[in-house]
Amino acid sequence: MYCRGFRVLVMCGIVGIIGNSENGIEEPMHSLKRLEYRGYDSFGFATNNGFLEKRVGNIGDFDASGLGTASRVFICHTRWSTHGAVTEANAHPHLSCDGEIAIVHNGIIENYQELKKELEEKGHRFRSETDSEVIAHFFEQALSENMSIEEAVPEFMQRTKGTFAALMIRKGEDRIYAMKRDSPLVLGLLENGFMLASDIYAFSDRTNRAVFFGDDEFAVVGVDGYEFFDSRGRRLDKEIQDFEWSRENETKENYEHFMMKEIMEQPEACRRLIKSLQSTQKEKIERLKDMIVGAKNVMFVSGGTSYHASLLGVYLLKQAGINTQSVIASEFQNYAMPDRDTVVIAITQSGETMDVIEALKYVKNRGSRIVSIVNVPYSTIQRMSELSVEVMAGQEVCVAATKSFTNQVTLLLYLASMFGFETDIERMPDEISETIRLNEEKIKKLASELCGRNDIYVIGRGLSYPVAREIALKIKEISYIHAEGMMGGELKHGTIALIEKGTPVISLISNNNYDMLSNTKEVESRGARIITASNSNEADLKIPSNDNGKFGILATVLGQMLAYYMALEKGLPIDRPRNLAKSVTVK
Ligand code: AGP
Ligand code: GLU
Repeated sequence: MYCRGFRVLVMCGIVGIIGNSENGIEEPMHSLKRLEYRGYDSFGFATNNGFLEKRVGNIGDFDASGLGTASRVFICHTRWSTHGAVTEANAHPHLSCDGEIAIVHNGIIENYQELKKELEEKGHRFRSETDSEVIAHFFEQALSENMSIEEAVPEFMQRTKGTFAALMIRKGEDRIYAMKRDSPLVLGLLENGFMLASDIYAFSDRTNRAVFFGDDEFAVVGVDGYEFFDSRGRRLDKEIQDFEWSRENETKENYEHFMMKEIMEQPEACRRLIKSLQSTQKEKIERLKDMIVGAKNVMFVSGGTSYHASLLGVYLLKQAGINTQSVIASEFQNYAMPDRDTVVIAITQSGETMDVIEALKYVKNRGSRIVSIVNVPYSTIQRMSELSVEVMAGQEVCVAATKSFTNQVTLLLYLASMFGFETDIERMPDEISETIRLNEEKIKKLASELCGRNDIYVIGRGLSYPVAREIALKIKEISYIHAEGMMGGELKHGTIALIEKGTPVISLISNNNYDMLSNTKEVESRGARIITASNSNEADLKIPSNDNGKFGILATVLGQMLAYYMALEKGLPIDRPRNLAKSVTVK
């Protein structure tokens, strides 16, 4: 097998391209770059004529022009490593012993050790520490036992535990074999061929026609057509879906980073959402309201930033007399008992977060109804839901969620207002702009003061408690500073022991909340460096709205900017923080 000097760059995104004429590497590169936000530990390409290239590094900066390869069939991968360090050897594609088979994989083969041992006993030699490599050897073994790939896939699906979206090619064959369980996979119908990818964004600039894989389905895609099969090898009729996905927001424009561009887009994104809730999505949001009214229990499920949005949802709906609860997705099965009378509302930017998908499978088994609030249309979670309302934030490229959070909370605020919560939501886009304008210079100064610190505390109560957690998360993931976002009332139960002279504490005080003012005094008297964010005139960071419902969003915008400017001062890779991926498609 022809193998150029290996270097690797990986992401949790896969792409396969098959066309009726030869393409250079530029086309797969272009599509893989569009999936860069899914992960960026290493990347790699393979073709059916023996070309293999793997790199550790950033695909964004990779210049493929010198490679000069051409083929009708490519598979490629961007890795977010789960098993095995970030090295060239562990980067995908992985090959069978004889180099005849190449595979890329997103997901985790949970029983890979058992399968690897069996294959090693049969003489297979592994070159990587990954779970994924077993796929190539499994099929090599099957071929040596005179099975066809089509015959071997059902056996593979039966033997394998775990999750996979996997693409496989054989040397000299104009075909891509594609298999899916839990990890996302979609087939795009191009003018002169087909593309297989982790999500539609890989090809949304080339086609708006796609076929979505269901779980335990596989497809054989050739130059002129494709066939889908179920896990027992029975042929399936699959529907072709026309999709729309806005092409805006794909470049940084004049900004240095997507994060700042996305922060600045918030007024516009928020305006777009409000408009849609009054027009194109009016019926959907009314249906959601009716489902909540008709349910005995309402539960949110989400992770990370989306979880913080859901906590704000619980608070806002409670103010309107609606009882809900929120359980974090990764612990949902341990802590929640939804039943037939429960409506479960998943909140997710990507619509692909594995923790949420797993929680929803559990929810489904318990007979509850599933609704979702998503940003990415046609995503797995949207397709798992009986009703899905979109937050219309547009493509969010930076790993740190900003505008998607603002729009999730705006949607929940809108929902609460339908139950009687009083808010002047129409003014929100302007108030976001005003918050940025009023505070940007102060935040830059604060960022240069705080960026060298090891710890920052952020405290809030009620509405501002989830915001404290969200601001702390932004500080951690973008600025690499340990930050704790917590309830002001909990300080006295332990954490206050950590407050020393000069410890930075950001205090979020909406409407002169008396208890928050007391908590602030408590840390101040222990020497903390207090930074207040409030709607009072004396605040260090001023929030130009007395409207409680909007405080959460406006205070979060300040935190986003603080995290951004601290990271900028430290020269960090803002859009792609270390160890993180935009879509977390593993458990
Ligand atoms: C946000 O800044 C984070 N990178 C992360 O916490 C994210 O919110 C989380 O992974 C959930 O993602 P989702 O909204 O796509 O489900
Ligand atoms: N588990 C595989 C690995 O660590 C795939 C990770 C991914 O989804 O990118 O290589």
